[in-house]
Amino acid sequence: MKQIIENLIRESISSLNKDNSISPELLNNIRVDRTKDRAHGDFASNIAMMLAKPLKKNPRQIAQDIIDNIPSDSHISKIEIAGPGFINFFANKDSIATALEAMNKDARLGVKEVSNPDTIVVDYSAPNVAKEMAVHHIRSTVIGDAVVRVLEFLGNKVIRANHIGDWGTQFGMLIAYLEKKENESGVGMDLSDFEAFYREAKECYDTDEEFAVKARSYVVQLQGGDEYCRTMWKKLVTMTMVQNQKLYDRLDVTLSDKDIMGESLYNDMLPGVVEDLMNKGIAQEDQGAIVVYLPQFKNKEGNPLGNIVRKNDGGYLYTTTDIACIKYRVEKLKANRILYFTDSRQQQHLETVWAICEKAGYTNKNVSLEHCPFGMMLGKDGKPFKTRSGGTVKLRDVLDEAESRVKALLADRKSTLSDEDKETVIHNIAMGAVKYADLCKNRTTDYIFDWDQMLSFEGNTAPYLQYAYSRIRAIFRKAEDIKPGKIIISCEAEEDLANKLLAFSEAVYSVGNKALPNLLCNYLFELSNLFMHFYEACPVLKDSVDMETKQSRLALCEVTAKVLKQGLGLLGINVMEQM
Ligand code: ARG
Repeated sequence: MKQIIENLIRESISSLNKDNSISPELLNNIRVDRTKDRAHGDFASNIAMMLAKPLKKNPRQIAQDIIDNIPSDSHISKIEIAGPGFINFFANKDSIATALEAMNKDARLGVKEVSNPDTIVVDYSAPNVAKEMAVHHIRSTVIGDAVVRVLEFLGNKVIRANHIGDWGTQFGMLIAYLEKKENESGVGMDLSDFEAFYREAKECYDTDEEFAVKARSYVVQLQGGDEYCRTMWKKLVTMTMVQNQKLYDRLDVTLSDKDIMGESLYNDMLPGVVEDLMNKGIAQEDQGAIVVYLPQFKNKEGNPLGNIVRKNDGGYLYTTTDIACIKYRVEKLKANRILYFTDSRQQQHLETVWAICEKAGYTNKNVSLEHCPFGMMLGKDGKPFKTRSGGTVKLRDVLDEAESRVKALLADRKSTLSDEDKETVIHNIAMGAVKYADLCKNRTTDYIFDWDQMLSFEGNTAPYLQYAYSRIRAIFRKAEDIKPGKIIISCEAEEDLANKLLAFSEAVYSVGNKALPNLLCNYLFELSNLFMHFYEACPVLKDSVDMETKQSRLALCEVTAKVLKQGLGLLGINVMEQM
């Protein structure tokens, strides 16, 4: 519809543009948006305002000229001028119905694949080895995964990159401690309590000189490729990722083993990268370290900030790894878009890395590097979300609590579900609620973790949307052999619902472009509200309703259910026939 209106406007303007005072660029950028208020029709364009300058005319006059010249079209029932010169278009109700019917028949619900697919690396989740995933990891994991699903659905080639922290000097200590534990227990050990493991390893390192000497030699041996150290290191990585995979599976996150591309992957590239930066005159030696100075980043004294890429002891840094990582993603993986889902505090780190890569030619203007930052997770008191004793909250504990809370909430409901189905319902609501709480807010802001809010069946929550879906499915069970039929838009609530349904594709695209899943959440929430309103205003199965209307309204129910299922699916949230 937008396309149709854009073309109509373009045709009209061309006939007004005899002296070519309007640039082709303007003609190619005619904007048509959906209106927020139905009083303003269904679509509006600000083109008349854009043309006021080149045509040296009053925008309202231009709007009138455009309207007078617009070819008639069956999709449009009325065109009006509003305010300073907006042109409002009222869609023909029949064409709304036809478009919706086409959408209902389309397995993709009108969401076309992009015409030029990108190769997109999505860097997300990225927990650290020998540490348990903490609740804050859910942000990168869940938001990143929703964007991955959307980008893939839109037909792009998406490479999931789980940039785990699996390298660094701490591994000497961790290997030495793993060895000690294995010697003590004889059999394979269960590393379920990483926190204690890390703490104890550090304690040994700080208090036992013999242990510390061994730990330091293990770092050197690991970096030199020593087989024993490699094996022990691999054990640590595997034990950690086996635990994390359980959380991914539980959360319905699409990450798996094959997506692990941790820091260690780039280790062999580091010496070459540093040498290359030196040869290109980008890096220089400074007191034994190798440093890159970038004029755009200044320290407090106003001097260029030095970024160490190799320490004077020969060690490399997080920055060096990320530089090599970009080179790999651009040259080997052929990425033309790289999204980083990390906390907003990594902004400067990434900007530094990008600036160095640009100078070194590891990236170029055809590659879009995007930081998709998110804010902190706060407790209800507005302070960082911590356990009562002030420790980090484990993700596993949060998921357990979500399930037990949902179980308690549903306990006194009467239900015909089998025990097995009940388990599924509890799982879906609990995981949906936790994930949606993270997804539905603009990720750039801090957010308050609030159980009561996220588990509510009212408001912008997963349980509310899941309930809207189940409710529609219940209508179909009740309808028995009445089937959805031809759509006829006869009242306002139907028209509002239909227009919203037709905007699904735009909502999905906006998530792909801006990496902001909250845009899809908002869309689905508004859709559910409009559905509830429609359902109250327009009875579907009541005896007094004639068959044609019943079938039309059932069709509206059907498209709504499909959009809810698909939309929530893109967010990684399951729906249920009954709950
Ligand atoms: N492991 C890091 C952390 O826990 C996040 C890694 C983000 N990705 C990257 N390419 N630097 O903070």
